[in-house]
Amino acid sequence: MFRSSDGNYPLPPMDTSKIAVLGAGTMGAGIAQTAAEAGHQVTLIDTNQEAVDRGMASIDAILERKVEKGRASRDEVDQTKNLLQTTTDTETGVADAVMVVEAVFEDLAIKQHVFRTLDGYCPPDVILASNTSTLPISKIASATQRPERVIGTHYFSPVPLMRLVEVVRGEHTSDSVAERTVELCRGFGKSPILIADVPGFIVNRFLCLLYNEAANMIHNGVATAEDIDAALKLGCNWPMGVTEIMDLAGVDVTLNAMEAMHEMTGEDRYDPSPLLRQMVADNKLGRKTGSGFYDHT
Ligand SMILES: NC(=O)c1ccc[n+]([C@@H]2O[C@H](COP(=O)([O-])OP(=O)(O)OC[C@H]3O[C@@H](n4cnc5c(N)ncnc54)[C@H](O)[C@@H]3O)[C@@H](O)[C@H]2O)c1
Repeated sequence: MFRSSDGNYPLPPMDTSKIAVLGAGTMGAGIAQTAAEAGHQVTLIDTNQEAVDRGMASIDAILERKVEKGRASRDEVDQTKNLLQTTTDTETGVADAVMVVEAVFEDLAIKQHVFRTLDGYCPPDVILASNTSTLPISKIASATQRPERVIGTHYFSPVPLMRLVEVVRGEHTSDSVAERTVELCRGFGKSPILIADVPGFIVNRFLCLLYNEAANMIHNGVATAEDIDAALKLGCNWPMGVTEIMDLAGVDVTLNAMEAMHEMTGEDRYDPSPLLRQMVADNKLGRKTGSGFYDHT
């Protein structure tokens, strides 16, 4: 029997339909692994061979670790690997897919170009999903002749472990596409929530406020990063503190998200804290540069 990527949830009767994933980076590789572990045929697509190889290598490493740790059998992992294919040719990669999940760079012009291309390649009944974390689904959909078939599926990192998917209905997304997308995400072992196309969706709308408040408290000398994280972990039972999350995600990524939220909403509460800008200018980006709110050297 196929189980969810974290091994905890038995999945409903197997759906072997083909899923194509465009972009073999952190998120694309995670989505491809998750769909294959649920029994789908998956094609992982990127613009160049190095990128698809890197994506597959990261999936391979995670699957092999599962065998080593006894969280999956050799047979299960081999079965998953056999369901995964890669290509750099988008047209053949998306052929026969029931859903294409786009996970390329977070840039509206790039995503619109990708969706325009997909519109030309895909049959009419395909679901075109975007993993954007901040961009309006309706704007991405406007690049196609079929906005009713376009939807957001916002996964969280690391995809195989995080259970939430924000399924985002654009202005023209049809009921049947929304229902089928929720069903497919459930089949992946996820817990989808169907939400409106508002800036930041749900999670980032809240998180950006917390990030900014934490950065401003530190900037104004009201509290230290350690105090803020201790308060949230010990007082609210959060598994991680908010500055620990920023260090993990990248302070630059946090600043980008905040700037996007500020631009989309025009609300002062999303105006990025000067501390975030200073940290990015100083290359204090968190774990990836060895220094952020904490020292990671
Ligand atoms: N990293 C996260 O924590 C996270 C969480 C949720 C959502 N997202 C969103 O997911 C998307 C991908 O993020 P990521 O962190 O995986 O990025 P990434 O930089 O790791 O990977 C992006 C990949 O897309 C590829 N690509 C670019 N243009 C392409 C094209 N035209 N066709 C095919 N492939 C193309 C790149 O070569 C690269 O391999 C973004 O929209 C991001 O906002 C990221």
